[in-house]
Amino acid sequence: MIEPTIEEALGKQINQEFTAAYNYLGMAAYFDSQSLDGFANWMQIQHDEEVAHGMRLFRYLLDRGGKIELKGIPAPQTEYANPIDVFERALEQEVDNSKSINKLYQQATEANDFATKSHLQWFLDEQVEEEKSIEDIIAMLRLAKDDVSALLFLNDKLGSRVPEQEGGIAASE
Ligand code: FEO
Repeated sequence: MIEPTIEEALGKQINQEFTAAYNYLGMAAYFDSQSLDGFANWMQIQHDEEVAHGMRLFRYLLDRGGKIELKGIPAPQTEYANPIDVFERALEQEVDNSKSINKLYQQATEANDFATKSHLQWFLDEQVEEEKSIEDIIAMLRLAKDDVSALLFLNDKLGSRVPEQEGGIAASE
């Protein structure tokens, strides 16, 4: 069995992961509308990863005998000022998500819920990676400034992103 406080916190985190997924889908739609297919590809894979994160927690909570109450997801933003604006919003979202995972880990510690702590370890590591990859893209976009060829080079680079076996939508966990 799982403590009600942890059950509720995990439920919120599930919602947060699916909200993040939907937001990334909105960002993919924005980039597609700007004919930046490589950026759109990157965002779509990011969406798939967030769905996989939500599913990891969903299955974990069910395995622990928890009850899942699926809450609504707000409509995502699909209009942005420019590519940097999109990635700054994405970074904000990941920083918020890292805080939320940290809080959840703290709650699990206070509840002596070692299994949940163990499960969350993967998420703690994943957040470090996600924040770093978005920060790197922001740095490259800042270097590119208004240089269209640099932007198109980046578009090609992000277009080569392929789903990770662990985080992709096809992940078995
Ligand atoms: Fe599931 Fe981007 O954190």
